[in-house]
Amino acid sequence: MKRLLLLFIVAAWLPAAAQVSVSSLKVNHMTEPSGVVDAEPVLSWVVESPDRNVMQQAYEVRVYRDGRSVWRSGRVESDDCVTVAYGGEPLASGTRYEWQVRVWDDRGRVSKWSERSSWLTGMMTAGEWQAKWILPEEQTDASPMLRKEFSVSKPVASAVAYITSHGMYEASINGAKVGDAHYAPGWTSYDKRLQYQTYDVTDMLQKGANAFGLVLGRGWYLSLLGWSSGEHQIYAYDRMAALAQIVVTYRDGSREVIATDGTWRSSTGEIVHSTIYDGETIDARLIQHGWNTAGFDDGSWRGVTVADYPMDNLVSSDSEPVVTHEYRTPVEVITTPKGEKVLDFGQNMVGREIFTYKGRPGQEIVISHAEVLDEKGNFYTVNLRSAKAQSRYICSGGEDRFEPSFTFYGFRYLKVEGIEGDLDPEDFKAAVIFSDLAEAGSFSSSNEQVNQLQSNIQWGLRGNFLDIPTDCPQRDERLGWAGDAQVFFRTATFNRDVQSFFRKWLKDLAADQHADGQVTDIIPTIEGLVGAGRTGWADVATIVPWQHYMAYGDKRILENQYPSMKAWVDFMVGQCTEPYLWNTGWHYGDWLFYSVDNDTSGVSAVTYKPLIQQCFFANSADVTAKAAAVLGLDKEAAYYADVAAKAREAFCNAYLTPAGYLVSATQTAYVLALNFDMLPEAMRPVVAARLADKVREYGHITTGFLGTPYISHVLSEWGYTDLAYMLLLRQQYPGWLYPVTMGATTIWERWNSMMPDRTIPNNGMNSFNHYSYGAIGDWLYRDAVGLHETSAGFKTMAVKPHVGGGFTQMRAEHVTPYGRAAAEWRDAEGLFTLEVTIPVNTTAEIYVPSASADEVMLDGAAVAASKDASLEGYADGYTRVKVGSGTYRFEVKR
Ligand code: BGC
Repeated sequence: MKRLLLLFIVAAWLPAAAQVSVSSLKVNHMTEPSGVVDAEPVLSWVVESPDRNVMQQAYEVRVYRDGRSVWRSGRVESDDCVTVAYGGEPLASGTRYEWQVRVWDDRGRVSKWSERSSWLTGMMTAGEWQAKWILPEEQTDASPMLRKEFSVSKPVASAVAYITSHGMYEASINGAKVGDAHYAPGWTSYDKRLQYQTYDVTDMLQKGANAFGLVLGRGWYLSLLGWSSGEHQIYAYDRMAALAQIVVTYRDGSREVIATDGTWRSSTGEIVHSTIYDGETIDARLIQHGWNTAGFDDGSWRGVTVADYPMDNLVSSDSEPVVTHEYRTPVEVITTPKGEKVLDFGQNMVGREIFTYKGRPGQEIVISHAEVLDEKGNFYTVNLRSAKAQSRYICSGGEDRFEPSFTFYGFRYLKVEGIEGDLDPEDFKAAVIFSDLAEAGSFSSSNEQVNQLQSNIQWGLRGNFLDIPTDCPQRDERLGWAGDAQVFFRTATFNRDVQSFFRKWLKDLAADQHADGQVTDIIPTIEGLVGAGRTGWADVATIVPWQHYMAYGDKRILENQYPSMKAWVDFMVGQCTEPYLWNTGWHYGDWLFYSVDNDTSGVSAVTYKPLIQQCFFANSADVTAKAAAVLGLDKEAAYYADVAAKAREAFCNAYLTPAGYLVSATQTAYVLALNFDMLPEAMRPVVAARLADKVREYGHITTGFLGTPYISHVLSEWGYTDLAYMLLLRQQYPGWLYPVTMGATTIWERWNSMMPDRTIPNNGMNSFNHYSYGAIGDWLYRDAVGLHETSAGFKTMAVKPHVGGGFTQMRAEHVTPYGRAAAEWRDAEGLFTLEVTIPVNTTAEIYVPSASADEVMLDGAAVAASKDASLEGYADGYTRVKVGSGTYRFEVKR
């Protein structure tokens, strides 16, 4: 009997114990990263449970090195699962650390130990490089190949490679590519910060003879960049060079380092030319088969030159590599009216083609890239400006497989020249390439056109998050334009995990920031090409760190960026000609705002630039104050809050009339004033009404880059959701759905990049893959579905739908730092439902649209009676309910 009872107790306990579990282990917010060099990397995990209202009560972390424990945190009473700092013995270089975690919840249940996850450290201290910079004895346009053989005579415990280059590199060991990254070492402000990558190559070594090979391309370091390219040598050195070492640790504890030095050999191969804008030429006749395997006869190769290039700019890479995400196949083979042979991939994308072909020896095939066809259906490349964007392939005579290594293209269409007869679509594939950013959200609705808009936004992100956030991926720019990144950042966070990606880019921002605090227009900057200190562009320095903190909840981003934030605000303060009124300097303003030619009646929506400046100035001071407060710098927080208050006062004195007009009566002016809290309390509804008038007067959006991210949000916040939907759903120019009706598969740079008759204005600046106007994505998640954070990192969140626009259903999911959150509303005849899923260890305020709290039901009963949710009140058409984790379906009978 006793035994039976025991069995019964165990059986009852077992499933309960399994009701809380741990997953998604990350280090520095990345899954199993390599090259971690922090003394205290940040550990995070997600707690899962099917139950409602579950919080983490405590955690325990264990870290191992070679099976030996190096840290046991013991049970720590804390609900932190996002920013737990490693606290064990000092980390060694090039070493894999394994770790696991278990948690207790607030019901006393304990999870199983998680699966083990790991990280690989980089070089923990300076001076571990034994490698020397090497360059081929002779450097031509062709991609250098560098090789070295070495032998492994004893059993290997581990082998770690550290590699970087001036230009791009692809490394191989014994004929196999090291890692799956493209375009390494990535793009940074090279003279100040040159990344090296760390790879675990233990399994790539073989007993006996081994070969280590490197191929180099010009890449960002040495290609001519910028629309007036040619004059700029951007970085310090004008030749491709490599720096690499493999540290082999044998089982007997001894070590050996194989490093670039004067003994390496050099040659060139099939890549005869390659630059970022113009593309790549590959001559398959020049392939040196087996060059990167042991035993290859490199007798005809030349030596290398050792250079004393600096090493003090080397930093370990700490963001996701650029990788191939998928391969796509052509959807149509077209012969254009001009007779061009064209392949249509059905989707504007970024990456490169893979072409498999058996041609005549020496046969040359030229593949050009375009985003669109013109109004007649011909291949259109005018908008690439000076970028040639062409692959030239020369056949060996055998079965060749061509894929460029050191360039990328923005394209939907390929034009193929040099093939007689019909094209075989089977010969072509397209690799979609961007940074390895995990999906972090989805949005879908009952409106198919809006779903296509969401798809276009996501493709805009894919195409322009290639190691740095770019303006566009195709023409002679592809640069890290600060304004564009600022405008799109929150939309990006809802769709992909861009945490490490932006942490890296912000370091380059700070590195390139001028001594006087001005932030450069593009990052990494190209001195001489662009300026600095432009309102709305330079404010990326304050806006993105703050929003990053709100999205991800790790205050290290503020610690890192705070000096840069301050420097930018201090610069603006110093530029004021009247106290706290910043009205000097040249600015882009509300870039690409609505304007008409021969504007006799003055409808172009020109916003006075100093008015814009003042809004961004106040906002930057404001978020700098908030950052200071988070960092515990109270005095500085008070100082910057005071700057913000004074800037707002100066704004009202200079630009606001007593009747609630602004000196520029534009949508952008009203939107910025409201969004950045520039106005006294009593004036806000008055100005909001002026904004609503402006929207009605035009019947469409008139904002450019700076007003666009906020207009819909401000409208729904002030009770004009109907107008926000009107803007969203407009199918004519200017409006978000106009490109969709024209068949767009990405976001266009201009509201009218293509005219209704499909003619394409040649205004020198017309990209079909420019994410800035995709900033509406933030509103779809945050306001339309209504899912948003109310404290840093979604520790607390809200779901507040804005129902309207004729939608009958809308759903958003977002992977918060605590796990997946979701919200879906359905508006059917007689019944409104709102279903939310809230991650463990967080709480949420749910705003259920309703006429009174009484009509809101949960689990088939009045919400007031629920034991799982607490009714907080009713106001402005919403019943407010507080919940913890779990899934809740609210119903309102109509
Ligand atoms: C880029 C933009 C950028 C702008 C600066 C353009 O050429 O493509 O998106 O922000 O210049 O105004």
